[in-house]
Amino acid sequence: MQKRIVSGMRPTGRMHLGHLHGALNNWKNLQEEYECFFFIADWHALTSEYANTKVIKGSVNEIVKDWISVGLDPLKSTFFVQSEIKEHTELHLVFSMITPLPWLERNPTYKEQLKELTQKDLYTYGFLGYPVLQAADILMYKANGVPVGEDQAPHVELTREIARRFNFLYQKELFPEPATLLAPTSRILGLDRRKMSKSYNNSIYLTDTDNDIRTAVSQMVTDPQRMRKTDPGNPDICNVFTFHQIYSPSETVNQINVECRNAGIGCVACKKMMAENLISALKPIRAKRAELDSHPDMVREIMESGNKRARSIASDTMAEVKAVIGI
Ligand code: TRP
Ligand code: SF4
Repeated sequence: MQKRIVSGMRPTGRMHLGHLHGALNNWKNLQEEYECFFFIADWHALTSEYANTKVIKGSVNEIVKDWISVGLDPLKSTFFVQSEIKEHTELHLVFSMITPLPWLERNPTYKEQLKELTQKDLYTYGFLGYPVLQAADILMYKANGVPVGEDQAPHVELTREIARRFNFLYQKELFPEPATLLAPTSRILGLDRRKMSKSYNNSIYLTDTDNDIRTAVSQMVTDPQRMRKTDPGNPDICNVFTFHQIYSPSETVNQINVECRNAGIGCVACKKMMAENLISALKPIRAKRAELDSHPDMVREIMESGNKRARSIASDTMAEVKAVIGI
């Protein structure tokens, strides 16, 4: 039988190139090999956006359209919305009973986010329990693997610990321990060379127009040592060059690799070439996206059938859970 994987994303805005190269292209490959469940983690978004919920509702549909436009295929994979499957909250509650507090308090992601996101009050019960909810998402479908970035690895580890503890407490091998399928790390950075992220305002979105892309690329930070066109540059540390390596033909990459180092090409010209190649590469994605925008019924049907399929598995799992616990 095909192995099953589950992964989710929080709906906090449209998809950008960071998502594409950090997760979506990987998911796209995985759907050829695994039975895939990809979902919108709207309850998870609520753990940090509880005071600003508009963004959540507004991005659910947009994200699903972005997913399909890059080649995630609703005929191969199941898409669903976490809050539409009520069993997630139930299993979360069950797991919250058996998860020792110290496991959550020592979670590195938790500690880091408390330190970093100081503008939000994250000293809540729900935020501490974030990985418990994530364990419910994963174990609900008895996933064999979870494709995630490095930052999420501790959560999958916690999921395995919760599975083990549940199976031990109730003396039944109900939940398999899912493997972490680390996504290949993306070298793409944001316009300012920090990680591409909505909150840094340094992203290129899949739905950006040609001119948005040209403007964004013209603002990209290049080799910071290179002040003038007559200074030799170093493509190895230049984010524009990284984009060329992904989006430009190899002759162009080789040419820039040489001419940048001997000051034969200026950054303005180099960026212009890259922007046009990026625009061409995103064309088919944008075309698919336009098709989806003009068929809202199709998107709705895809979501409904995904939710239905997820719901039927989730209700079976919850029935097993209740039987095993004896409640
Ligand atoms: N925590 C994940 C993130 O921020 C999103 C997520 C929620 C998830 N539930 C999941 C990922 C289950 C994988 C599996 O990216
Ligand atoms: Fe980067 Fe291109 Fe400028 Fe070289 S010429 S520093 S690769 S933008």
